[in-house]
Amino acid sequence: AEQKATNVHWHEGDITREHRAKLLGHKGATLWFTGLSGSGKSTVAVELEGRLSEMGILAYRLDGDNVRMGINKNLGFSAEDRTENIRRIGEVAKLFVDAGVIALSSFISPYAADRDQVRKLHEEAGMDFIEVFVDCSLEAAESRDPKGLYKKARAGEIKNFTGIDDPYEAPATPEIHLHSDQQSLDEEVDAILAALRERDVIK
Ligand code: PPS
Repeated sequence: AEQKATNVHWHEGDITREHRAKLLGHKGATLWFTGLSGSGKSTVAVELEGRLSEMGILAYRLDGDNVRMGINKNLGFSAEDRTENIRRIGEVAKLFVDAGVIALSSFISPYAADRDQVRKLHEEAGMDFIEVFVDCSLEAAESRDPKGLYKKARAGEIKNFTGIDDPYEAPATPEIHLHSDQQSLDEEVDAILAALRERDVIK
């Protein structure tokens, strides 16, 4: 998209990211959950948010309800809109990381290039970006069908549904690879906590 605003300058404040990390006792990071609809992205994020909170670590979930109904309510599911959806969420996640929070972003984010852009955005700013592939067979996701959307997609009532008549590009080298159709929720959360410790995001 073209740059619309001119004469806009970044205003550096006095309180730095390092200050905020000291105040909170931990640094921020983005955990980027990606996977099919019904793969369990939100379920893992909710559980993880609870576990982190119990440990005194500030985490905040970005997901469909608080994003597609708000900041991104003008976007649909065309390839362009999905790309813009992910771009905006990436920018919001980055702001949370700057504030010292662990951002838990759970969106299908079907395009590898879009996820890689968000990764780049974080890495250029010296921020941790941890891609979590919530791997689940289409068969398992479709049999869960919590919102009845696969059924509608099969019936042709929803077009361009990810996994049915729209692509999902699985991450080639995610930092964390979960198998939500085989692992328990506890196993998944423990794997993520271990990866956060390994990266010194949490103690
Ligand atoms: S994306 O691709 O990252 O922009 O999608 P996302 O913002 O995560 O939104 C996915 C949820 O929207 C519902 N939904 C659809 N998903 C995929 N394809 C189509 N066409 C579609 N239409 C609506 C669906 O409930 C997804 O919810 P989750 O939580 O992933 O199951």
